[in-house]
Amino acid sequence: MKKILIIDDEVNVALLLSKFLTRNGFDVETASNGASGMDFLKNNEFNLVLCDYRLEDTDGREILKNIKTLYPKTGVIIITGYSDIKMAVELIKMGAYDYITKPLYPDEILNTINKAIETQYALQQEDEDVAAIPEKSKTNKKQVLAGEFVVGTSRPSKELVRQIELVAPTNYSVIILGESGTGKEAVAKSIHLSSPRHNKPFIAMDCGSLTKELAASEFFGHEKGSFTGALYTKIGHFEMANGGTLFLDEVGNLSYDIQAALLRTVQERKVKRIGSTKEIDLDVRIIVATNENLQDSILKGRFREDLYHRFNEFGIYMPPLRDRGNDIMLLAEHFLKIANEELSRAVSTFSPEVVECFLNYRWPGNIRELKNIVRRAALLAEGDEVPLKALPLEISNYKMPAFEAYSPNPHNFNHGQHQQTEAPEVKEHPKHDLKNAALEAEYETILRVLREVNFNKTKAAEILKIDRKTLYNKMKAINLGK
Ligand SMILES: Nc1ncnc2c1ncn2[C@@H]1O[C@H](COP(=O)(O)OP(=O)(O)OP(=O)(O)O)[C@@H](O)[C@H]1O
Ligand SMILES: [Mg+2]
Repeated sequence: MKKILIIDDEVNVALLLSKFLTRNGFDVETASNGASGMDFLKNNEFNLVLCDYRLEDTDGREILKNIKTLYPKTGVIIITGYSDIKMAVELIKMGAYDYITKPLYPDEILNTINKAIETQYALQQEDEDVAAIPEKSKTNKKQVLAGEFVVGTSRPSKELVRQIELVAPTNYSVIILGESGTGKEAVAKSIHLSSPRHNKPFIAMDCGSLTKELAASEFFGHEKGSFTGALYTKIGHFEMANGGTLFLDEVGNLSYDIQAALLRTVQERKVKRIGSTKEIDLDVRIIVATNENLQDSILKGRFREDLYHRFNEFGIYMPPLRDRGNDIMLLAEHFLKIANEELSRAVSTFSPEVVECFLNYRWPGNIRELKNIVRRAALLAEGDEVPLKALPLEISNYKMPAFEAYSPNPHNFNHGQHQQTEAPEVKEHPKHDLKNAALEAEYETILRVLREVNFNKTKAAEILKIDRKTLYNKMKAINLGK
């Protein structure tokens, strides 16, 4: 029987909820304040905690922090009388599963609880299932959110989708952080398509390739004759995206002047074409992406902090492909299907050696690299199966670095497929070597804390009691960052 703890100082609400959930087959305890709630938690493990945000002696945020420290896997649902999405989003970023607003509706509560418990069950299954090479998994409709977008089933993917679904309906600006090729633009598009702006334009701008001279007219447009060479009137990207979403890729590359002009435009919600006095009202949602460390650029005076905070109303961290376990094969099969259509071929599957290689390789170019490799392999395959020799040597010959092979949870949130490869390094590795044991403990701790704070490195450094620079260096040393 699943155990639920209700922490709510409105005794009537707690009692009603308790009765309702007991009738629905749960084992329920109630606490009327934070302190007694924590007492229950210290002595029992619960599957789920329903916690009122406002309590006499503390609040939902504190309780959530404590629960996540004691039992990271326990689901927490926050009950709030204030339908304040900002606070709820904050709590979800901190690890709450979801929130429900008062007045409470039995169906809604039961629905949310069941979903939370299902998710928890799925996560446990994944943990237990570390060694399984995926069965031929099919890309089904559910896994394709917006057209070509494969969602995947790994824990980081589910988290990603949850964040997309959460932020899409709002007007929040979003920063998408992640290595090259992890799908930042695909996620931006997906947010747009799942938002109320979906039938308005989605305009993508690559700020990495903008020259300093052209940047202003690309953003704001210009009137004919406003400067030498302005032969025609040009509509800027802000104007083009009006009503919809403007996606700025490689935003870290913008010059300081342009950053100032951008900030003004975003704050004033108005744009003027260069050479014009007419102000045009703007209603544009901004999504930006970068694979640079913007915090670092701020410290070095290359990126404006005020602009960063404007953009960072919600941050999404893109998991690298190597951390996405079985998704590698879901994506590979999706790309194989597309390549077959493109090339009029019927290559239906990957050989077991190819699957093993795919799961072990580190994919520095992430999804883009996988896509290219699969397209190439589909072309080279002679029969209906992709053989090992259709992969480039750097992939078919790939050996894991010693530390990674040795780590019990290699560079990864949840999957341990790497362990299957009995590379010689694994056997010869001195398991009782103290330095490695210390490194391993450090690795686990850093990864755990980063996950707890949703990869917010400033917070992680605070918790780990080291400065940010040390954290970056350590992450680099264990290949956790760029
Ligand atoms: N979830 C997904 N399902 C299917 N294809 C995807 C998915 N995510 C990314 N792709 C594909 O992978 C390629 C790289 O994705 P995208 O351009 O979004 O990455 P990026 O993070 O913006 O890369 P860069 O940092 O180089 O700009 C694209 O061809 C995209 O279509
Ligand atoms: Mg991109």
